[in-house]
Amino acid sequence: MKYNFDEIVNRRGTYSVKWDGGQLIKNMGLTDRYDDETIPLFTADMDLPVPQPLIDALHKTVDHRIFGYSIFPDEYFDAIQKWFKKRHDWIIQKEEIIFSPGTVHALSIAVRALTDPGDGIIIQRPVYPPFTSVITANGREVRNNAFTCNDEGYYHIDFEDFEAKAKDEKTKMFIMCNPHNPTGRIFNTDELKKLSEICLKNDVIIVADEIHGDLIRRNQTFIPIAKAASNVDHIITFTAINKTFNVAGLHCTNVIISNPELRNKFISVMGTHLPSPFTVSALIAVYNEGEEWLEQLKEYIDGTMEWVVEFLAERMPKVKVRIPEGTYIMWLDFSGYGLSPEDVHDRIYNKANVLLEDGKMFGEEGLAYQRICIPSPRPMIKEALERITREFENIK
Ligand SMILES: Cc1ncc(COP(=O)(O)O)c(C=O)c1O
Repeated sequence: MKYNFDEIVNRRGTYSVKWDGGQLIKNMGLTDRYDDETIPLFTADMDLPVPQPLIDALHKTVDHRIFGYSIFPDEYFDAIQKWFKKRHDWIIQKEEIIFSPGTVHALSIAVRALTDPGDGIIIQRPVYPPFTSVITANGREVRNNAFTCNDEGYYHIDFEDFEAKAKDEKTKMFIMCNPHNPTGRIFNTDELKKLSEICLKNDVIIVADEIHGDLIRRNQTFIPIAKAASNVDHIITFTAINKTFNVAGLHCTNVIISNPELRNKFISVMGTHLPSPFTVSALIAVYNEGEEWLEQLKEYIDGTMEWVVEFLAERMPKVKVRIPEGTYIMWLDFSGYGLSPEDVHDRIYNKANVLLEDGKMFGEEGLAYQRICIPSPRPMIKEALERITREFENIK
């Protein structure tokens, strides 16, 4: 079937963080202004309808009329295994799959289960903010292997610095984001092999957050690190249907751990989580029948990104942007205006009344940037960028 992603679905009054969470958003310090006219393009969830087979499966679950404690049937594991084999040529064993009600939740469990207070953990800033907070909140230390950015806005790993940090005997873990939020980089096989080998040599566990791995440009390939690496004993991977199929509210992450020792440690700290029947039926539906929708979605997102780049080149040429290899996030460099980050914020959030995410939240490397999530109907993205443009027109 053909999906109409241009349709604007009113999400107000549906308990949506983006559309109903004004007070929460203000408390989080994202903005001072939030009202009925705000266009929220900050958090990574889509304003686009989900696959029809998913809707049908959830209806069927509702129609049962009883929502008791639930199990993971074989179809659940089969669906995961088939998806990753087909989409990423990655063979996962059933016993390697551990359910978690969320990726950030799993991240926190991994840090607590597999490192000790005072240990160092490598991350690559600018990066998704909970990577930092999960380390500091658990009394571990951040080792920032900051990305380097070239003149074209393309990010690279500083391997010399990475190796030096991995060699530090207090360093015990590397939390990798691939595809990388917010820069959109997808690591290639050489980079993945190199990261894996350095970590293996230095007894550093890799926690690979790959939950954006299905949301890549149509001309790109995503390779799970567990597939690229020659040894996976030190690798744990997070996968999820949350981002790919716009079901963050259904809380379904699957952690893949091949090494039984790491797996047991992880499970012993996490305990057992039973799923909701909605989560089980959702995963089976999207992994077995969601591919057609995903291909259409990717085409739509690619088109929106191309439109954003053209629009900015014409109307706000001082904003530097490139189409990311993966994710549905765009990372806008506002440094060309020579304004303070506060001034940029004021124009976008208070005057244009568009809610993005200040780059500084991703680390000081992001100070001059704004992050925009673009999986919303294109008319909404157009309206948001028109509003922002108006607030920067008078700057020479
Ligand atoms: C890289 C990354 N990891 C984790 C999350 C959050 O995932 P969850 O809702 O499953 O905790 C996000 C959400 O934006 C993300 O971008």
